[in-house]
Amino acid sequence: MSAGAEMRFDSGLIAPKGVWWRPAAKQERLWIAIAFVWCLVLFAMMPLWHFKGGQNPSGIRSRVKPEDYVMRTLRFVEEYKVGEENGVPIVAPPPGADVYLLARMWSWYPALRLKQGATYTIHLSSMDVNHGFSLYPANFNFQVVPGYDYGLTMTPNQAGDYRIICNEFCGINHHAMLGKIVVEPAEQVAAIVRPEIGDNDERR
Ligand code: CUA
Repeated sequence: MSAGAEMRFDSGLIAPKGVWWRPAAKQERLWIAIAFVWCLVLFAMMPLWHFKGGQNPSGIRSRVKPEDYVMRTLRFVEEYKVGEENGVPIVAPPPGADVYLLARMWSWYPALRLKQGATYTIHLSSMDVNHGFSLYPANFNFQVVPGYDYGLTMTPNQAGDYRIICNEFCGINHHAMLGKIVVEPAEQVAAIVRPEIGDNDERR
């Protein structure tokens, strides 16, 4: 009988011989303490990085039906349209305005004319599939998702001619999905306002 009791094997039903009831040794306690403290550090980094890291969009966001977003964009274009280029309206919203930019297969609508140093809330959404908003030559990148309206606060700090390039594959013409944002230099803003008294505006 004693020989039979020694011939045992371990399984889910018969537990292996363990030493769990013995108190942990010094090294083991030390490693558990280090791992625990590191877990706390990583946990604290999540909220800390949100505020300090500058990695997350801190703008406003809401759900929106794609057709409602299209209506918002059309209303915005109607209100601030100043010209047209290759059939795409050029829109110059006043500083502080809510700007609506629509992504669709395969264009960005409309083209924008902004002022250097002015702050805008740029809304981004898509009417069909996921697109990617990347602004060249500025290093800026944002997902554009149908059903969601992301409002990002932006202050263009450099004048210039910017291109919006779609960086999320969205179909056969993904590579041709380009948009345009022109940022006028702050010192020219006054000069641009003046010629509007005359009727022969040749800048368009
Ligand atoms: Cu839109 Cu790729």
